[in-house]
Amino acid sequence: MSTRTSPQTASAPGKVILFGEHAVVHGRPAIAVPVTQVQATATVEPAPSGSGLTLIASDLGQSISLAAAPRDEPLAVAARLTLAHLSSFEPDATLTVSSTIPIASGLGSGAAVSTALVRALAGFLGHTLESAVISTLVFEVEKIHHGTPSGIDNTVVAYEQPVYFVRGHPVERLTVGAPFTLLIGDTGARSPTKSVVEHVRRTWKRDPARYDALFDQMGDVTDEASRAIEAGDVDALGPLMDENHALLIELGVSSSQLDELVEVARFSGAMGAKLSGAGRGGNMIALVEEDFAEEVTEALREAGAVRVICTRVTTTE
Ligand code: MEV
Repeated sequence: MSTRTSPQTASAPGKVILFGEHAVVHGRPAIAVPVTQVQATATVEPAPSGSGLTLIASDLGQSISLAAAPRDEPLAVAARLTLAHLSSFEPDATLTVSSTIPIASGLGSGAAVSTALVRALAGFLGHTLESAVISTLVFEVEKIHHGTPSGIDNTVVAYEQPVYFVRGHPVERLTVGAPFTLLIGDTGARSPTKSVVEHVRRTWKRDPARYDALFDQMGDVTDEASRAIEAGDVDALGPLMDENHALLIELGVSSSQLDELVEVARFSGAMGAKLSGAGRGGNMIALVEEDFAEEVTEALREAGAVRVICTRVTTTE
């Protein structure tokens, strides 16, 4: 094993959940895809001998040495897990992370920062880790961010592929039969996943029969969507997104802003739309034909979306 003397940089994409959020925490399937238009980046540079590892979150203006970092500081946890996995000493280095992914908005910012960090640190130490290993390490960090994460965020971000995911099962990469275009509209309202997931868990415990039935319905929609994506039947996806959004409203995780953007997207030409991620804020997604993308983007902006990302979903090699 050799520590590099030159800087190592690695990045990781954001993600959106197409179908099955929340239900996936409760054992049902979900589908997620990477979003390369937003990225987290980590750079590791050599530092003078004896200085140890310094972690810098440049967007937040924070800097801390690994030795002094609290036990549950996410960057430190990611670094410690990587060093432990590689049975490595702590290198003399400066590790800087930055991200263009808005936090607490359902785009997988936490998983992307951890993934970039793990990749860059492993690279600095002379290793290239497999996606499965990175995903497992990042899952441990996700527990700090999310409490009881399903594991879908670390999986889709580490594999950088569309995935069909069931908690505790081996990851299944989804083949996209025909590429399709998504708009991702940000309400601008931050919504920590952990608190929404905990709220859903509390309501589920109060009335398990009702909420299990909802999760089952979401699982059925996801399975149907998975078949449609693989078959290249894009027309089938819009109505399934609408159906999933209605179920998420029933689950109590939508918001008036999300509903408004979903409505506006549909009205201005989208084939279907839904909230994406934990809900209560964050982002919504709309399926559009390419010809309508500009019109729907404009309508979403006018309705208050603080940013709209256009992404093409396809299977990458
Ligand atoms: C978070 O991106 C999606 C949720 O389903 C939580 C999880 O899967 O851990 C809300």
